Amino acid sequence: MATNGASVNGSKPHKYNPTFTQSVINATGPKATPRVRQLTASLIQHLHDFARENELTVDEWMLGVELMNEAGRMSDDKRNEGQLLCDVLGLESLVDEITYKLASDAIDEPTATAILGPFYRHNAPKLPMGACIVAEETNKQGDRTWMHGTITDFTTGKPIEGVVIDVWHTAPNGLYEQQDPDQPEMNLRGTFTTGKDGKYDFYCLRPVPYPIPYDGPAGKVLQALDRHPYRPAHIHFLLKAPGYKPIVTQIFDRNSKYIEDDAVFAVKDSLLVDFKPFQGDSQADFELPYDFKMASFEQAQKHGVVGSTEQSGA
Ligand code: BEZ
Ligand code: FE
Repeated sequence: MATNGASVNGSKPHKYNPTFTQSVINATGPKATPRVRQLTASLIQHLHDFARENELTVDEWMLGVELMNEAGRMSDDKRNEGQLLCDVLGLESLVDEITYKLASDAIDEPTATAILGPFYRHNAPKLPMGACIVAEETNKQGDRTWMHGTITDFTTGKPIEGVVIDVWHTAPNGLYEQQDPDQPEMNLRGTFTTGKDGKYDFYCLRPVPYPIPYDGPAGKVLQALDRHPYRPAHIHFLLKAPGYKPIVTQIFDRNSKYIEDDAVFAVKDSLLVDFKPFQGDSQADFELPYDFKMASFEQAQKHGVVGSTEQSGA
């Protein structure tokens, strides 16, 4: 069979069997859904092109297989190594950008999104406004912060009632509670629901930079690439309200180390915040004002927010 100069599906000519990739793609059966067919055909094409372009050796391929197997073995409900691997390669941040991209003609924009990360937990405690998410012992170790703001509709500017705000961040030792047997269950996590005025407030800590877990495959990748594992100080949020597109995001301390150099590429300018020294509140050393703007499903679709097919809060 002629090999040199062959070009299939617009990919570059190469010296290998020119029909091989297409024959693998064609093996997909008639019952595969259109989306599965599209994604796997593209994945096969890119994987094969990658192997040919780099003349991948059997040893190198096996190393990749081992890395994935190890990631699977390490993963459980407290650790998601597969997601972590994607994160250090920038894939979760890219998918986040693709999913939530707004048309550039939007007059104003809803709050920017950022990756969920592997440390989200369902069923964080439901707390009243003004409550503290920090366990007593942990509170003695960090910079106590009062965070507050208003959640509005990004087109009308009106406050949104019934927004469930899910918040979580690390302890001063750089660990999330599920990573640390010394922290109480659900420490530094809470959910709050807005009233008619769309306002929220709670006490937390000023977060610190921390390393993502690097004792597994993601760490091996970082080491091979001569990269550090640190994330800049941030607080995570998941906002849901009936009729509105959910927001998964993080806010970042503008003055934190690693703000220019996040190991998982999640920092966006509009998510940088300033912690202000605060006097007159015996519960807080810093104040952090921050307003969120949400898009209704109609607006999200009108402004081209892809991925806005699912109602939140339903
Ligand atoms: C996090 O911010 O919790 C996180 C995100 C990506 C990878 C590891 C941790
Ligand atoms: Fe985090």
